[in-house]
Amino acid sequence: MLIAQITDIHLGFEPGNPDELNRRRLDAVLATLGAMNPQPDLMLMTGDLADAGDDAGAYRRLTEATSRLPFPCYPLVGNHDGRAAFAAHFPAFCRDGFAQYEIDAGPLRILALDTLDESRHGGAWCDARAAWLAARLAEQPERPTLIAFHHPPVDAGLSLMGENSDAAWVRRLESVMTPHANIVAMVAGHLHRPLVTRFAGTLLAVCAATAPELALDLGTIDPEAPDQRPLIVEEPPAFALHFWTGRTLVTHFGRVADDPILARFDHRMQPLVRLLAEERRS
Ligand SMILES: [Fe+2]
Repeated sequence: MLIAQITDIHLGFEPGNPDELNRRRLDAVLATLGAMNPQPDLMLMTGDLADAGDDAGAYRRLTEATSRLPFPCYPLVGNHDGRAAFAAHFPAFCRDGFAQYEIDAGPLRILALDTLDESRHGGAWCDARAAWLAARLAEQPERPTLIAFHHPPVDAGLSLMGENSDAAWVRRLESVMTPHANIVAMVAGHLHRPLVTRFAGTLLAVCAATAPELALDLGTIDPEAPDQRPLIVEEPPAFALHFWTGRTLVTHFGRVADDPILARFDHRMQPLVRLLAEERRS
């Protein structure tokens, strides 16, 4: 099965402009995913759907944009989202005060987590949310399970964003997840950069944003000394495709860009294509 992921859409960054840059970048990604063959079976939208959490119009525009897709879309909360506006627009994905829920995706079970604390940019995950995940994981200890949420619980080495690996919520998440070998991977967003790492004994794939990206900068930043370094860059809008083989999860990172085509499948390339196909069969 094929799971699409988009993240950090930030609709409403330009208030009052329905044709804003972030909407055009979202539409470009949705057009690419909608035209894919094979089609994704579903799509995860891992938070920062709106730029301002009280912007109900942003959630309406997102639903309008994704409603044309031929596969279901699942919303998660990020730090820019507001729990009240999110719950008002997406009530089916909220219960007991949090946007945590289960997706029965056939061969794979997906558990969506809520790492929002409306008072901060970074993540949070309380005992109540931990108890929910522990109970869900205990229900089906053998079934391959994918965990999705907004905030990667790691120090990513980026100068601007990342988590303290010793933060209480990070330790809490690690302790709930670590005993469960059936967790095949975690997927997240938030960093506006693509990366892969490990957490709690499993893979953590972080999808880049549909909105503009964070500059790739692993240097130290002094908050008291503006030094004109690039912070936000307009890289092409991004998405991820997670391919569940039945044994493992393979993550592809994609971008919507008008890349020059250097080779096509024509008679000149056919011998190589034929050879590679034969090798895969043997
Ligand atoms: Fe974001």
